[in-house]
Amino acid sequence: MATNKKKLTTASGIPYAENENSMTVGPRGPILLQDFILHEKMAHFNRERIPERVVHAKGSGAYGTLTITHNITQYTRAKVFNQIGKQTRLFLRFSTVGGEKGSADTERDPRGFAIKFYTEDGNWDLVGNNTPVFFVKDPKKFGDFIHTQKRDPYTNCKSATMMWDFWSLNPESLHQVMIVMSDRGTPYGYRHMDGFGSHTFSLINARNERFWVKFHFKTLQGIKNFTDEEAGAMRGTNPDFAQHDLLTHIDNGEYPKWAMKIQVMPEDDAKTYHINPFDLTKVWPHGDYPLIDVGILELNENPDNYFAHVEQAAFAPAHVIDGIGYSPDKMLQGRILSYPDAHRYRLGGNYEQLPVNKCPFMVANYQRDGLMTVNGNHGSAPNYFPNSFDEIEADPHYKEPAWDLGAHTADWYDRNAEGENDHYTQPGTLYRLMSPEAKADLIKNIVHSMKGIDGPKKELITNRQLCHWFRADMGLGMAIAKGLELNLDETMKHMPA
Ligand code: HEM
Repeated sequence: MATNKKKLTTASGIPYAENENSMTVGPRGPILLQDFILHEKMAHFNRERIPERVVHAKGSGAYGTLTITHNITQYTRAKVFNQIGKQTRLFLRFSTVGGEKGSADTERDPRGFAIKFYTEDGNWDLVGNNTPVFFVKDPKKFGDFIHTQKRDPYTNCKSATMMWDFWSLNPESLHQVMIVMSDRGTPYGYRHMDGFGSHTFSLINARNERFWVKFHFKTLQGIKNFTDEEAGAMRGTNPDFAQHDLLTHIDNGEYPKWAMKIQVMPEDDAKTYHINPFDLTKVWPHGDYPLIDVGILELNENPDNYFAHVEQAAFAPAHVIDGIGYSPDKMLQGRILSYPDAHRYRLGGNYEQLPVNKCPFMVANYQRDGLMTVNGNHGSAPNYFPNSFDEIEADPHYKEPAWDLGAHTADWYDRNAEGENDHYTQPGTLYRLMSPEAKADLIKNIVHSMKGIDGPKKELITNRQLCHWFRADMGLGMAIAKGLELNLDETMKHMPA
């Protein structure tokens, strides 16, 4: 009679005779070294943890589809966009940034919005956030910035002093700090927030013309945020709120959706546009570059195993496909190096062979061997190029047009040089666009956070940051100063002319 029963086995497939009692000399005697099943169980258990992501460690992910609803082939030849109705499978991982893998997913923080599109021209990774801008504009500053979001080396606690010290010394961060300090810094789970590719990328069409592009994903569930108090309470009651919310909605067939849109800038506009279009601390005003509809992104399948899919997922901004390219955004350039390096450390050199990362269409190259080779290692096919046996070749059709970078002198150019140092106009405009309730919440959240600044430099850091808020908007500065119960006359003395 057929049975579903299976034999319990070792990792090498040898059936167990006993799974709960170790082999001992007599019922009360010591354990025998020869009980190798005990060793295997303990040893494998000891190796269950892999390094958590150095940032964005806490996350949730799901599979889904991108369906194209509009024709953007005048801008790009990328096959993922080549037909209305075309569907591409994808994996999306959401995350918080600063917390550890076990931290609460309702922390005040940006949210990661990392998408892997499994396209016929290879996997395209768009590794963005729920914010259109970022804290710094040069990758050299990234590690220092992240240290301020993690734990103080002495107290091992999070430190408002470190954060505001860094931000006040880096006014380029003001735009992103304002967004994170608003209620958008505590979104109601992952379904009710927008996603952004954030950087400027490029699109290349069939005529080999280049356009600059920004990618947007507008939530169709509507924007919904926690207030500071609600997020604080949720951290205590359910630190996995966002994970649970995403998982249960997909399990119940309520598939979250986002409208994918783009902003497109003709290549030559970049030379004259009044904002540096490759500066990640700035947005492109929609009045100048309106949103163009592309398609609908839907999440409709929970992975059956968290570790296999979500923890082992590896996204890299380096992975763009034909019809999509990089831009000179310094931050993007830094990330092109950083992510595959992080994956090789966290998951090993063959991380691309793991099911969630694997290109489902075709991989043909001469990379061989290494730890955990699980793809058959290309069997008996030649492992060198050129050779006289296979017909694998590089296809020049995939080449993108040459870049005119407009300069040929290498130097350490000041990222905030004259003309690149307006840190205040866009945050000020953002503030003035907010509803009275949003303004009130923002001020309350900033005051709450800045009250955490302490130590011998408390006054210096507080006043320095206050100057930035004043420069963005006088009313905002006044309201924060009042909330912090500061003597305004004293503060004004520290304001630069
Ligand atoms: C130079 C600047 C940056 C560097 C060096 C950097 C580096 C890293 C590293 C090393 C990881 C961990 C990767 C892993 O172990 O899998 C990571 C994760 C991530 N980063 Fe960045 N990052 C930078 C800026 C940004 C920006 C500007 C964004 C968004 C616009 C961003 C979004 C993300 C996301 C969403 C993840 C998590 C990906 C996932 O879900 O696995 N990062 N970053």
